[in-house]
Amino acid sequence: MISAFVGDAPAKIILFGEHAVVYGQPAIAAPVTSLRVYASASENSLGYLRVIANELGSVYTITQSEKLSEKPLETICQLTLRHFNRPIPAVDLKLTSEIPIASGLGSGAAISAALARALAGAIGESLSDDVLNTLVYEVEKIHHGTPSGIDNTVIVYEQPIRYVRDEPIQRITLNHPFHFVIADTGIHAPTYLSVGDVRKLMDKSPETTRNLIEKIGSITDYALEALKSADISTVGRLMTENHRLLQSLTVSSPELDHLTDTALKSGAFGAKLSGGGRGGNMIALVESDSVESMKATLKSAGAYRVMDMTLGNDS
Ligand code: MEV
Repeated sequence: MISAFVGDAPAKIILFGEHAVVYGQPAIAAPVTSLRVYASASENSLGYLRVIANELGSVYTITQSEKLSEKPLETICQLTLRHFNRPIPAVDLKLTSEIPIASGLGSGAAISAALARALAGAIGESLSDDVLNTLVYEVEKIHHGTPSGIDNTVIVYEQPIRYVRDEPIQRITLNHPFHFVIADTGIHAPTYLSVGDVRKLMDKSPETTRNLIEKIGSITDYALEALKSADISTVGRLMTENHRLLQSLTVSSPELDHLTDTALKSGAFGAKLSGGGRGGNMIALVESDSVESMKATLKSAGAYRVMDMTLGNDS
């Protein structure tokens, strides 16, 4: 029996450590709970499974096959059904996403997580977060080549985390509110390209590149202490240092630099690109009463889209 079911998942933002995390360094990431993907499952009369992604202008058809598809939206459905040892059901999965694609906010992992949850619910099963995380990671490999696993982890567990590849995740609780403004350059930049370019840099200049990556790792661990002790100015300074190191890794862009410089000149504690870089989003840490003015400043400086997010609670 097929039940109507809605699965969802949030966007993510990386606060510290992107790219370095691919090489075993720690990173800190948080869910952006106000930006979500929804997948709504309902029975169809076709006898096979469809994923209807109106925003991508695509309909994917999934029929019985031994072979795993290389299309991520199909693969996640196949992996979910294989996990439960179930045949292809007569189901439509309709996707609605508030997360811009290829912009550093984890849209790929969120789409996979929402689809798997909806499909499992429709066939009367339920996926634990641990299993879902493994399935989404398999699909991330198609998107990114050598993903660290941070995107799927923060999106599936929907909690701020310190993440080190192949280690148990460390959930972070912050007892002080941190206010961030997120600004989108509007430039789509697939993560696998910037990750691939860092890999080339590593092959060409291993010592310098490893040095940059280790510095990012140290900054991330200092930042975690500063986040926990509510030392906002140190968190901000470390964000900006992290951005400078990402520039040296060649993953920033003139647009990201322009928005981070504008945020810093306009009083942000710190600012950096977030995610794969080259385009996508930057993030600035600001006083609570300057959130709105910072959003307006970044918008007039050319940001395509701005939003804000608060992490942590008042203790
Ligand atoms: C992408 O959100 C984060 C990167 O570090 C890639 C990865 O960790 O897989 C750039």
